[in-house]
Amino acid sequence: MQVEQKQTIPTGIDAAKQLAAFTAVDEHILPHHKIIGIGSGSTVPFVVDRIVAQGKQLNQDRVFLPTGFQSKELIVNAGLRLGDIDQYPNLDVTIDGADEVDRNLNCIKGGGACQLREKVLAEAAETWIIVADYRKDSQTLGTTWKQGVPIEVAPFAYVRVLQHLHDMGSKTAVLRMAKAKAGPVVTDNGNFVIDAPFDNGRYQNPKELLMEIKMLTGVVEVGLFCNMVKAAYFGNADGSVTARL
Ligand code: 5RP
Repeated sequence: MQVEQKQTIPTGIDAAKQLAAFTAVDEHILPHHKIIGIGSGSTVPFVVDRIVAQGKQLNQDRVFLPTGFQSKELIVNAGLRLGDIDQYPNLDVTIDGADEVDRNLNCIKGGGACQLREKVLAEAAETWIIVADYRKDSQTLGTTWKQGVPIEVAPFAYVRVLQHLHDMGSKTAVLRMAKAKAGPVVTDNGNFVIDAPFDNGRYQNPKELLMEIKMLTGVVEVGLFCNMVKAAYFGNADGSVTARL
């Protein structure tokens, strides 16, 4: 079903998100790109707005793959053609948000519990682009995003994984609960999410941390994305954009 979209002029942080998103689309969604991945979060709606603004003629030959329920709705509501990774396992470009990006373009993602599908669509894309506001731009992971590494786990195994994470030094790792503590957050894949903060030292080598967590039985995917970003765009409060390549 297609719903009418209200256009408002964003201010504050939303303006910064819009700036990053518009710049990334202008730079990286080119006329010959036909298979496009759409990430999750509050920045990607601006990505979709800018793609729609490229016009019906370009978009009628394109297919858009979502990283979760939210982006599926965005694609459908914008009147764009929805596709599935089963049909299109190789994407031209995926644009996504991030919770934090370090100086080497390693990212923490999964604040919206979409990290599994986000990583699949990031890996499957020839080009993976990050869009965010300036608050996400940091030297070392764990500086601004204090919630920890989002880890998708099989529900059956979550207590065991929590134990292992505590043993690894993440003493405050917790199962992510839904609002009003109505129960655990359940991902689009039917799994739970653990948020595992680590000491700053562990974030100095995010790849090593990623591999260590990924080896725990019951872990489905880890919200650490290393050596994957082609370019990251951060919208700033003064109306400028920082591009990191
Ligand atoms: C969801 C994500 C999001 O991309 C991340 O949380 C950033 O969201 P926002 O654009 O709202 O800051 O990883 O799993």
